[in-house]
Amino acid sequence: MSETDLSQALFPHARDAVRALRPSQIREVANAGFGLDDVLPFWFGESDRVTPPFIRNAASEALAAGATFYTHNLGIAPLRAALAGYVSTLHGATAVDHVAVTSAGVNALMLAAQLVVGAGDRVVEVTPLWPNLVEIPKILGAHVETVALDYGPRGWTLDLERLLTALTPATKLLMLNSPNNPTGWVMTRDEQRTVLDHCRRNGIWVIADEVYERLYYAGHEHGVAPSFLDLASRDERVICVNSFSKAWLMTGWRLGWIVAPAQLMDDLGKLIEYNTSCAPAFVQQAGLAALQQGEAFTQQLVGELKASRDHLVRALSALPEVDVKAPAGAMYLFFSLPGAAAGSLDLCKALVRDARIGLAPGSAFGPEGEGFVRWCYACDTARLDEGVARLRRFLEGRWAAERA
Ligand SMILES: Cc1ncc(COP(=O)(O)O)c(C=O)c1O
Repeated sequence: MSETDLSQALFPHARDAVRALRPSQIREVANAGFGLDDVLPFWFGESDRVTPPFIRNAASEALAAGATFYTHNLGIAPLRAALAGYVSTLHGATAVDHVAVTSAGVNALMLAAQLVVGAGDRVVEVTPLWPNLVEIPKILGAHVETVALDYGPRGWTLDLERLLTALTPATKLLMLNSPNNPTGWVMTRDEQRTVLDHCRRNGIWVIADEVYERLYYAGHEHGVAPSFLDLASRDERVICVNSFSKAWLMTGWRLGWIVAPAQLMDDLGKLIEYNTSCAPAFVQQAGLAALQQGEAFTQQLVGELKASRDHLVRALSALPEVDVKAPAGAMYLFFSLPGAAAGSLDLCKALVRDARIGLAPGSAFGPEGEGFVRWCYACDTARLDEGVARLRRFLEGRWAAERA
């Protein structure tokens, strides 16, 4: 081995699969705003409001009572029971032995992926998509194929045939997020039925990321989006991932859950042991309060988010050359802006620098997202209005410069 080869071999670096992961472009834009205290941040997927008091109080009380110890890998018994009840109400009978508590939705996604995929496996995903879903299987050495949504007069839609064609018998897993971040697209019940039947026939696992299921504005069918749990038996190859982050404004608490076949629970318990061992005890108590006392809060939140969505769609539609449609779910508008086609990352950095407005670049959600930007509207309408006013001034400045 030459001296150069030797120094390369000794040079500390992570596995190739890790080094190949894409860094978050949302972070890249946010970093451009670091130190600027007058930027309006619409880039991350969280509300500007703190978690409601009844949840914070439950955590304080649990801490005061000494809930500072490890818990069972799958979560404390009362929380698992409450989750089983909650899921049963929304999606039909679900026993406790199908439910596990996780350290938020992203950890649930990693655990679910660790349960079923390994090196060389083929995973199919529908994009544009929150990058974590795309990168997680890659960490495990899997190969991800994407099927792009189409954007047209009806907003974001799925070409179902294209998805079914991609779901070959050689596919190990479909990892699907609906309601979708960033587009707000929601898979219909009929589409879910067709996809599930196809996956059953071909022995393909489904991991359904349904963390936005309560943020659903079309029809208010039990206040919840169509779910794979409505169609699948609890013992087939379907794993559902969920989170306390969105429906109860608990992003910083890191609490989520998994609904999966009971046959997987022993293995899931082992994976939880070797990842985090358990979610923090006092945070689990806070989750219990969210489930026991939070339904009215969530329903009110959804009403407010819907109003914010409509408000922002109206305001943005009044801008020339801005094409925006109201999606059925989640808490984002994913729309095209003049200048975004030439590079949404550069445009978003310019928006931070010159207009003090923080949006997420569409390219962060895969090549299919290029030309678009994502705006999280989970904030009060005055802030949305100020954001739109800044965007208008920015675009007018650009047009004036182009004309000059
Ligand atoms: C599609 C999707 N899945 C999962 C998550 C995970 O959320 P958390 O880890 O906060 O529970 C997010 C967060 O933004 C998301 O957008």
